[in-house]
Amino acid sequence: MKIFIDTANVEEIKEASTWGILSGCTTNPSLIAKEGRDLKEVIQEITSLVDGPISAEVNEGDLDSMEKEAIELSKLHKNIVIKVPMTKDGISLTKRLSNKGIKTNVTLVFSVPQALLAFEAGATFVSPFMGRIDDMNESGAALIAKLAEVKNIYGYETEIIAASIRNTKHIEEAALAGADIATIPFGVLKKAFDHPLTTNGLKIFKEASKK
Ligand code: E4P
Repeated sequence: MKIFIDTANVEEIKEASTWGILSGCTTNPSLIAKEGRDLKEVIQEITSLVDGPISAEVNEGDLDSMEKEAIELSKLHKNIVIKVPMTKDGISLTKRLSNKGIKTNVTLVFSVPQALLAFEAGATFVSPFMGRIDDMNESGAALIAKLAEVKNIYGYETEIIAASIRNTKHIEEAALAGADIATIPFGVLKKAFDHPLTTNGLKIFKEASKK
């Protein structure tokens, strides 16, 4: 399972990129707003830090306005992926962009039928939101497993990005459920390195090396 970072904070991306495990980055309007910066400016900067797909989301609107914004964003860099909302216009846009060879990531996916529409429209990526599904007392992991099964049965090439990851358990669940990618917030990614027995083992080895 590939690892993307789910942030628009360039300092976090700089640090995580030194770990050698990042294959891409996802942003969304909330993450961009948190930085208080211009979308294009942030995305440009991320392209110099991450060598892989970088998702930039279009503002939800009518088909033509979203297409115009998508084409402008796609011109920023070859690695730009247009994040498209899971709406009727969003799916039409996915098809249009796919016909133009522009990569897409259909976001805010919460069900198999929604994902199927994205697969059929030729989406490059689809983003089921694990954490937000768990918040509804349903299982994000179960949804990922179903999408992986549908993808496998019909041979769709769309990659499944496990999104809305809140903790390291979600990383494990996404991997076991067959997600192609997990997009992980910086704080959760840092925690993935830790285990109390690793910390303890290091302490024991350090003491031993002094003797
Ligand atoms: C995915 O691409 C989204 O940016 C993200 O995972 C949303 O997660 P949230 O539910 O924590 O907002």
